[in-house]
Amino acid sequence: MSVSINLGQAIHALSDVLDLVGVGEVFHGKRVGFMALQCGHALGLDEPVLEDLFHAGLLHDCAVSSTILHQRLIDELDWEGAEVHCVQGGELVEQFAPLAHLAPLIRYHHTHWDAFPTLKISESTARLANIIFLNDRVDALTASHYERDLLLARHAVRETIWRLSGSLFAPDLVTLFMDLSASEAFWLSLEARHLIRFVHEREREARLVPVSFPELRRLALLFAQVVDAKSPYTMEHSLGTARLARLLAERFGLSVETCEKIEVAGLLHDLGKLQVPDEILEKPGPLTAEEQAMIQRHSFETYQILRGIGGLEDIAVWAAYHHERPDGHGYPFHCGGAALTLEMRIIAVADVFQALAQRRPYRQPLSPARILEVLRAFVRQSRLDGTVVERVGEHLESSWRAATGMEPGERWTWKPALAD
Ligand SMILES: [Fe+2]
Ligand SMILES: [Fe+2]
Ligand SMILES: [Fe+2]
Repeated sequence: MSVSINLGQAIHALSDVLDLVGVGEVFHGKRVGFMALQCGHALGLDEPVLEDLFHAGLLHDCAVSSTILHQRLIDELDWEGAEVHCVQGGELVEQFAPLAHLAPLIRYHHTHWDAFPTLKISESTARLANIIFLNDRVDALTASHYERDLLLARHAVRETIWRLSGSLFAPDLVTLFMDLSASEAFWLSLEARHLIRFVHEREREARLVPVSFPELRRLALLFAQVVDAKSPYTMEHSLGTARLARLLAERFGLSVETCEKIEVAGLLHDLGKLQVPDEILEKPGPLTAEEQAMIQRHSFETYQILRGIGGLEDIAVWAAYHHERPDGHGYPFHCGGAALTLEMRIIAVADVFQALAQRRPYRQPLSPARILEVLRAFVRQSRLDGTVVERVGEHLESSWRAATGMEPGERWTWKPALAD
Protein backbone atom coordinates (compact mmCIF):
# COMPACT_ATOMS: atom_id res chain seq x y z
CA MET A 1 0.00 0.00 0.00
CA SER A 2 1.33 3.44 -0.82
CA VAL A 3 0.35 7.08 -1.17
CA SER A 4 1.50 9.49 -3.84
CA ILE A 5 3.02 12.64 -2.48
CA ASN A 6 4.46 15.67 -4.16
CA LEU A 7 8.13 15.34 -3.34
CA GLY A 8 9.08 18.89 -4.31
CA GLN A 9 6.37 20.24 -2.03
CA ALA A 10 7.49 17.96 0.80
CA ILE A 11 11.04 19.31 0.45
CA HIS A 12 9.68 22.85 0.40
CA ALA A 13 7.74 22.11 3.59
CA LEU A 14 10.90 20.75 5.23
CA SER A 15 12.69 23.91 4.22
CA ASP A 16 9.87 25.97 5.77
CA VAL A 17 10.33 24.00 8.98
CA LEU A 18 14.06 24.76 8.90
CA ASP A 19 13.22 28.43 8.40
CA LEU A 20 11.05 28.32 11.51
CA VAL A 21 14.03 27.01 13.48
CA GLY A 22 16.33 29.60 11.96
CA VAL A 23 14.61 32.27 14.06
CA GLY A 24 16.51 35.42 13.03
CA GLU A 25 17.98 34.03 9.85
CA VAL A 26 15.30 32.76 7.51
CA PHE A 27 15.41 31.67 3.87
CA HIS A 28 19.09 30.64 3.98
CA GLY A 29 18.36 27.23 2.43
CA LYS A 30 16.06 28.70 -0.18
CA ARG A 31 18.68 31.26 -1.24
CA VAL A 32 21.41 28.63 -1.46
CA GLY A 33 19.07 26.40 -3.50
CA PHE A 34 18.22 29.28 -5.81
CA MET A 35 21.87 30.26 -6.39
CA ALA A 36 22.98 26.63 -6.83
CA LEU A 37 20.29 26.25 -9.45
CA GLN A 38 21.51 29.36 -11.29
CA CYS A 39 25.04 27.88 -11.33
CA GLY A 40 23.66 24.56 -12.60
CA HIS A 41 21.78 26.32 -15.41
CA ALA A 42 24.90 28.23 -16.42
CA LEU A 43 26.83 24.96 -16.52
CA GLY A 44 24.18 23.47 -18.82
CA LEU A 45 23.34 20.62 -16.43
CA ASP A 46 20.33 18.38 -17.12
CA GLU A 47 17.04 18.87 -15.31
CA PRO A 48 17.35 15.93 -12.86
CA VAL A 49 20.74 17.27 -11.72
CA LEU A 50 19.35 20.80 -11.48
CA GLU A 51 16.56 19.49 -9.30
CA ASP A 52 19.10 17.75 -7.05
CA LEU A 53 21.11 20.95 -6.72
CA PHE A 54 18.00 22.93 -5.83
CA HIS A 55 16.81 20.38 -3.30
CA ALA A 56 20.27 19.90 -1.75
CA GLY A 57 20.46 23.67 -1.38
CA LEU A 58 17.08 23.78 0.37
CA LEU A 59 18.00 20.97 2.75
CA HIS A 60 21.77 21.29 3.19
CA ASP A 61 21.47 22.58 6.77
CA CYS A 62 18.79 20.09 7.85
CA ALA A 63 20.91 19.07 10.85
CA VAL A 64 21.10 22.63 12.15
CA SER A 65 18.24 23.33 14.54
CA SER A 66 20.20 25.14 17.21
CA THR A 67 20.23 28.90 17.01
CA ILE A 68 23.82 29.06 18.25
CA LEU A 69 25.15 26.75 15.56
CA HIS A 70 23.07 28.61 13.00
CA GLN A 71 24.65 31.90 14.02
CA ARG A 72 28.14 30.44 13.88
CA LEU A 73 27.54 29.15 10.37
CA ILE A 74 26.62 32.66 9.32
CA ASP A 75 29.30 34.53 11.27
CA GLU A 76 32.37 32.46 10.49
CA LEU A 77 33.63 31.67 7.04
CA ASP A 78 35.08 28.32 8.00
CA TRP A 79 35.92 26.37 11.14
CA GLU A 80 36.70 22.77 11.99
CA GLY A 81 33.45 21.91 13.78
CA ALA A 82 31.44 22.70 10.64
CA GLU A 83 31.85 19.10 9.45
CA VAL A 84 29.56 17.74 12.17
CA HIS A 85 26.34 19.15 10.75
CA CYS A 86 27.35 17.90 7.29
CA VAL A 87 27.74 14.32 8.51
CA GLN A 88 24.50 14.50 10.51
CA GLY A 89 22.61 16.10 7.64
CA GLY A 90 23.78 13.40 5.24
CA GLU A 91 22.60 10.73 7.67
CA LEU A 92 19.21 12.42 8.08
CA VAL A 93 18.33 12.50 4.39
CA GLU A 94 19.64 8.96 3.89
CA GLN A 95 16.76 7.72 6.03
CA PHE A 96 14.18 8.62 3.40
CA ALA A 97 14.82 6.76 0.13
CA PRO A 98 13.52 9.45 -2.28
CA LEU A 99 16.07 11.90 -0.80
CA ALA A 100 18.93 9.50 -0.07
CA HIS A 101 20.79 10.39 -3.28
CA LEU A 102 21.22 13.96 -1.96
CA ALA A 103 23.24 12.69 1.02
CA PRO A 104 26.74 13.12 -0.55
CA LEU A 105 25.98 16.71 -1.57
CA ILE A 106 24.97 17.52 1.99
CA ARG A 107 27.79 15.45 3.52
CA TYR A 108 30.47 17.39 1.62
CA HIS A 109 28.97 20.87 1.57
CA HIS A 110 31.75 22.28 3.77
CA THR A 111 34.60 20.27 2.23
CA HIS A 112 37.37 22.39 0.71
CA TRP A 113 37.95 21.86 -2.99
CA ASP A 114 41.64 21.14 -2.44
CA ALA A 115 40.76 18.34 0.01
CA PHE A 116 38.69 16.32 -2.48
CA PRO A 117 41.61 14.46 -4.16
CA THR A 118 42.22 12.59 -0.90
CA LEU A 119 38.56 11.51 -0.69
CA LYS A 120 37.02 8.64 -2.59
CA ILE A 121 34.12 10.44 -4.19
CA SER A 122 33.43 11.06 -7.86
CA GLU A 123 34.46 14.36 -9.39
CA SER A 124 30.87 15.11 -10.45
CA THR A 125 29.60 14.70 -6.86
CA ALA A 126 32.49 16.79 -5.55
CA ARG A 127 31.62 19.57 -7.98
CA LEU A 128 27.93 19.57 -7.02
CA ALA A 129 28.82 19.64 -3.31
CA ASN A 130 31.25 22.47 -4.00
CA ILE A 131 28.50 24.45 -5.74
CA ILE A 132 26.43 24.16 -2.57
CA PHE A 133 29.44 25.17 -0.42
CA LEU A 134 30.27 28.19 -2.55
CA ASN A 135 26.72 29.52 -2.53
CA ASP A 136 26.32 28.70 1.14
CA ARG A 137 29.32 30.92 1.91
CA VAL A 138 28.05 33.64 -0.44
CA ASP A 139 24.81 33.71 1.51
CA ALA A 140 26.60 33.74 4.89
CA LEU A 141 28.70 36.70 3.75
CA THR A 142 25.65 38.50 2.42
CA ALA A 143 23.19 37.64 5.21
CA SER A 144 23.23 40.95 7.05
CA HIS A 145 22.81 43.01 3.86
CA TYR A 146 19.52 41.74 2.41
CA GLU A 147 16.76 44.33 2.16
CA ARG A 148 19.44 46.92 3.05
CA ASP A 149 22.71 47.69 1.30
CA LEU A 150 22.89 44.50 -0.77
CA LEU A 151 24.10 46.10 -3.98
CA LEU A 152 26.93 47.87 -2.17
CA ALA A 153 27.94 44.83 -0.15
CA ARG A 154 28.12 42.46 -3.14
CA HIS A 155 31.55 43.75 -4.22
CA ALA A 156 33.22 42.63 -0.99
CA VAL A 157 31.45 39.26 -1.20
CA ARG A 158 32.67 38.73 -4.75
CA GLU A 159 36.23 39.65 -3.75
CA THR A 160 36.22 37.17 -0.88
CA ILE A 161 34.96 34.34 -3.08
CA TRP A 162 37.56 35.22 -5.73
CA ARG A 163 40.34 34.99 -3.14
CA LEU A 164 39.24 31.48 -2.15
CA SER A 165 39.48 30.11 -5.70
CA GLY A 166 41.52 26.90 -5.78
CA SER A 167 41.50 26.43 -2.00
CA LEU A 168 37.88 26.34 -0.78
CA PHE A 169 36.26 26.39 -4.19
CA ALA A 170 36.91 24.90 -7.66
CA PRO A 171 38.51 27.63 -9.84
CA ASP A 172 36.10 27.20 -12.75
CA LEU A 173 33.10 27.38 -10.40
CA VAL A 174 34.46 30.62 -8.97
CA THR A 175 34.83 32.03 -12.49
CA LEU A 176 31.27 30.96 -13.26
CA PHE A 177 30.02 32.60 -10.08
CA MET A 178 31.86 35.84 -10.91
CA ASP A 179 30.10 35.93 -14.30
CA LEU A 180 26.67 35.21 -12.82
CA SER A 181 26.99 37.62 -9.93
CA ALA A 182 28.14 40.52 -12.09
CA SER A 183 24.51 41.54 -12.59
CA GLU A 184 22.39 43.40 -10.07
CA ALA A 185 19.51 41.08 -10.97
CA PHE A 186 21.36 38.09 -9.52
CA TRP A 187 21.52 39.76 -6.13
CA LEU A 188 18.12 41.38 -6.11
CA SER A 189 16.52 38.00 -6.91
CA LEU A 190 17.73 36.81 -3.51
CA GLU A 191 15.50 39.20 -1.58
CA ALA A 192 12.55 37.59 0.16
CA ARG A 193 9.64 38.64 -2.08
CA HIS A 194 11.30 37.54 -5.30
CA LEU A 195 12.84 34.44 -3.80
CA ILE A 196 9.58 33.09 -2.36
CA ARG A 197 7.79 33.71 -5.63
CA PHE A 198 10.51 31.81 -7.46
CA VAL A 199 10.32 28.85 -5.08
CA HIS A 200 6.54 28.66 -5.53
CA GLU A 201 6.83 28.83 -9.32
CA ARG A 202 9.46 26.11 -9.32
CA GLU A 203 7.34 23.96 -7.03
CA ARG A 204 4.47 23.92 -9.50
CA GLU A 205 6.59 21.76 -11.75
CA ALA A 206 7.17 19.27 -8.93
CA ARG A 207 5.88 15.75 -9.42
CA LEU A 208 3.98 13.15 -7.43
CA VAL A 209 5.99 10.12 -6.37
CA PRO A 210 4.57 6.93 -4.88
CA VAL A 211 5.75 6.47 -1.32
CA SER A 212 5.05 3.39 0.81
CA PHE A 213 3.71 3.91 4.32
CA PRO A 214 6.96 2.89 6.02
CA GLU A 215 8.66 5.48 3.79
CA LEU A 216 6.05 8.10 4.65
CA ARG A 217 6.65 7.37 8.31
CA ARG A 218 10.37 7.88 7.77
CA LEU A 219 9.65 11.22 6.13
CA ALA A 220 7.53 12.20 9.13
CA LEU A 221 10.36 11.13 11.43
CA LEU A 222 12.72 13.26 9.39
CA PHE A 223 10.50 16.27 10.13
CA ALA A 224 10.29 15.18 13.76
CA GLN A 225 14.07 14.97 14.06
CA VAL A 226 14.51 18.46 12.68
CA VAL A 227 12.18 19.57 15.45
CA ASP A 228 13.93 17.37 17.99
CA ALA A 229 17.11 19.40 18.31
CA LYS A 230 15.04 22.41 19.27
CA SER A 231 12.55 20.72 21.51
CA PRO A 232 13.18 17.14 22.71
CA TYR A 233 9.83 17.26 24.54
CA THR A 234 8.00 17.76 21.29
CA MET A 235 9.79 14.81 19.66
CA GLU A 236 9.05 12.46 22.54
CA HIS A 237 5.50 13.75 22.72
CA SER A 238 4.96 13.33 18.97
CA LEU A 239 6.25 9.75 18.96
CA GLY A 240 3.98 8.81 21.88
CA THR A 241 0.93 10.59 20.47
CA ALA A 242 1.47 8.81 17.14
CA ARG A 243 1.73 5.36 18.74
CA LEU A 244 -1.35 5.86 20.89
CA ALA A 245 -3.42 7.37 18.08
CA ARG A 246 -2.58 4.37 15.93
CA LEU A 247 -3.47 1.93 18.68
CA LEU A 248 -6.85 3.61 19.20
CA ALA A 249 -7.51 3.70 15.46
CA GLU A 250 -6.88 -0.05 15.37
CA ARG A 251 -9.19 -0.60 18.34
CA PHE A 252 -11.91 1.25 16.45
CA GLY A 253 -11.38 -1.16 13.54
CA LEU A 254 -10.41 1.58 11.08
CA SER A 255 -8.81 0.50 7.80
CA VAL A 256 -5.09 -0.24 7.71
CA GLU A 257 -4.54 2.78 5.48
CA THR A 258 -6.37 5.06 7.91
CA CYS A 259 -4.38 3.66 10.85
CA GLU A 260 -1.12 4.35 9.01
CA LYS A 261 -2.19 7.89 8.16
CA ILE A 262 -3.34 8.59 11.72
CA GLU A 263 0.07 7.53 12.98
CA VAL A 264 1.81 9.91 10.56
CA ALA A 265 -0.59 12.72 11.54
CA GLY A 266 0.32 12.04 15.19
CA LEU A 267 4.00 12.39 14.38
CA LEU A 268 3.41 15.73 12.68
CA HIS A 269 0.64 17.30 14.77
CA ASP A 270 2.86 19.70 16.75
CA LEU A 271 5.25 20.75 13.96
CA GLY A 272 3.97 24.30 14.38
CA LYS A 273 5.39 24.40 17.91
CA LEU A 274 8.72 25.23 16.33
CA GLN A 275 7.47 28.77 16.17
CA VAL A 276 6.80 28.96 19.88
CA PRO A 277 9.82 29.99 21.99
CA ASP A 278 11.17 27.20 24.21
CA GLU A 279 10.73 29.27 27.38
CA ILE A 280 6.98 29.27 26.80
CA LEU A 281 6.73 25.60 25.79
CA GLU A 282 8.57 24.49 28.89
CA LYS A 283 7.38 27.13 31.32
CA PRO A 284 6.86 25.65 34.78
CA GLY A 285 3.58 27.22 35.74
CA PRO A 286 0.58 29.07 34.41
CA LEU A 287 0.93 30.96 31.15
CA THR A 288 0.12 34.63 30.74
CA ALA A 289 -2.60 35.58 28.25
CA GLU A 290 0.09 36.62 25.82
CA GLU A 291 1.93 33.31 26.11
CA GLN A 292 -1.34 31.43 25.74
CA ALA A 293 -2.05 33.33 22.54
CA MET A 294 1.40 32.44 21.26
CA ILE A 295 0.81 28.72 21.91
CA GLN A 296 -2.57 28.83 20.20
CA ARG A 297 -0.87 29.62 16.91
CA HIS A 298 0.88 26.28 16.70
CA SER A 299 -1.80 23.98 15.27
CA PHE A 300 -2.55 26.52 12.55
CA GLU A 301 1.17 26.59 11.71
CA THR A 302 1.10 22.79 11.49
CA TYR A 303 -1.76 23.12 9.03
CA GLN A 304 0.09 25.66 6.91
CA ILE A 305 3.23 23.55 6.73
CA LEU A 306 1.42 20.33 5.81
CA ARG A 307 -1.36 21.56 3.57
CA GLY A 308 1.14 22.51 0.90
CA ILE A 309 2.21 18.90 0.36
CA GLY A 310 0.12 17.31 -2.38
CA GLY A 311 -1.06 13.85 -1.31
CA LEU A 312 -1.12 14.59 2.43
CA GLU A 313 -4.44 16.44 2.53
CA ASP A 314 -6.12 14.11 5.05
CA ILE A 315 -3.06 13.96 7.25
CA ALA A 316 -2.73 17.76 7.26
CA VAL A 317 -6.29 18.21 8.50
CA TRP A 318 -6.22 15.40 11.05
CA ALA A 319 -2.94 16.70 12.47
CA ALA A 320 -4.00 20.35 12.55
CA TYR A 321 -7.38 19.78 14.24
CA HIS A 322 -5.98 18.27 17.44
CA HIS A 323 -7.05 21.24 19.58
CA GLU A 324 -10.59 21.37 18.20
CA ARG A 325 -13.36 20.31 20.59
CA PRO A 326 -16.62 18.40 20.07
CA ASP A 327 -18.54 21.50 21.23
CA GLY A 328 -16.81 23.70 18.63
CA HIS A 329 -14.96 25.81 21.20
CA GLY A 330 -11.50 24.55 20.31
CA TYR A 331 -8.94 26.27 18.09
CA PRO A 332 -8.02 27.42 15.50
CA PHE A 333 -10.98 26.56 13.20
CA HIS A 334 -13.78 26.08 15.77
CA CYS A 335 -14.75 22.86 14.07
CA GLY A 336 -17.09 20.69 16.17
CA GLY A 337 -20.03 18.29 15.93
CA ALA A 338 -20.12 15.90 13.00
CA ALA A 339 -17.44 17.88 11.15
CA LEU A 340 -14.95 16.78 13.77
CA THR A 341 -14.26 13.28 12.46
CA LEU A 342 -13.31 10.20 14.45
CA GLU A 343 -9.72 10.48 13.17
CA MET A 344 -9.45 14.02 14.55
CA ARG A 345 -11.06 13.05 17.85
CA ILE A 346 -8.67 10.13 18.26
CA ILE A 347 -5.60 12.33 17.74
CA ALA A 348 -6.99 14.94 20.15
CA VAL A 349 -7.39 12.31 22.90
CA ALA A 350 -3.99 10.74 22.19
CA ASP A 351 -2.42 14.21 22.38
CA VAL A 352 -3.83 14.97 25.83
CA PHE A 353 -3.10 11.46 27.13
CA GLN A 354 0.54 11.63 26.06
CA ALA A 355 1.04 15.10 27.51
CA LEU A 356 -0.29 13.93 30.88
CA ALA A 357 1.84 10.77 30.77
CA GLN A 358 4.98 12.73 29.94
CA ARG A 359 7.39 14.03 32.52
CA ARG A 360 7.52 17.82 32.39
CA PRO A 361 10.09 20.10 34.01
CA TYR A 362 7.50 21.10 36.60
CA ARG A 363 5.71 17.80 37.31
CA GLN A 364 5.98 14.01 37.33
CA PRO A 365 4.04 11.91 34.81
CA LEU A 366 0.47 11.12 35.90
CA SER A 367 -0.49 7.49 36.54
CA PRO A 368 -2.75 5.72 34.01
CA ALA A 369 -5.73 5.81 36.41
CA ARG A 370 -5.26 9.52 37.09
CA ILE A 371 -4.97 10.25 33.37
CA LEU A 372 -8.28 8.49 32.74
CA GLU A 373 -9.92 10.63 35.42
CA VAL A 374 -8.64 13.79 33.77
CA LEU A 375 -9.78 12.62 30.33
CA ARG A 376 -13.26 11.84 31.66
CA ALA A 377 -13.47 15.27 33.25
CA PHE A 378 -12.58 16.73 29.84
CA VAL A 379 -15.40 14.70 28.26
CA ARG A 380 -17.87 16.18 30.79
CA GLN A 381 -16.66 19.64 29.75
CA SER A 382 -17.15 18.65 26.09
CA ARG A 383 -13.45 19.14 25.41
CA LEU A 384 -12.81 15.56 24.28
CA ASP A 385 -14.85 12.80 22.66
CA GLY A 386 -16.52 10.42 25.14
CA THR A 387 -16.48 7.33 22.92
CA VAL A 388 -12.76 7.65 22.28
CA VAL A 389 -12.01 8.20 25.97
CA GLU A 390 -14.05 5.13 26.91
CA ARG A 391 -12.04 3.12 24.39
CA VAL A 392 -8.91 4.36 26.18
CA GLY A 393 -10.48 3.15 29.45
CA GLU A 394 -10.97 -0.34 27.98
CA HIS A 395 -7.30 -0.47 26.94
CA LEU A 396 -5.69 1.63 29.63
CA GLU A 397 -2.50 -0.38 30.11
CA SER A 398 -1.75 -0.69 26.41
CA SER A 399 -2.64 2.98 25.90
CA TRP A 400 -0.10 3.91 28.58
CA ARG A 401 2.57 1.75 26.97
CA ALA A 402 1.86 3.23 23.55
CA ALA A 403 1.94 6.80 24.84
CA THR A 404 5.10 6.45 26.89
CA GLY A 405 6.93 3.54 25.29
CA MET A 406 7.28 1.94 28.73
CA GLU A 407 5.54 -0.23 31.32
CA PRO A 408 3.60 1.38 34.21
CA GLY A 409 6.00 2.15 37.06
CA GLU A 410 9.06 1.91 34.81
CA ARG A 411 11.45 4.85 34.74
CA TRP A 412 11.42 7.01 31.65
CA THR A 413 13.94 6.17 28.93
CA TRP A 414 13.52 7.26 25.38
CA LYS A 415 12.86 4.48 22.87
CA PRO A 416 12.56 5.04 19.14
CA ALA A 417 9.69 2.57 18.99
CA LEU A 418 8.75 3.41 15.42
CA ALA A 419 11.76 1.87 13.70
CA ASP A 420 10.76 -0.48 10.90
FE1 LIG B 1 24.31 26.62 5.18
FE1 LIG C 1 -0.70 20.79 20.11
FE1 LIG D 1 0.56 17.77 21.10
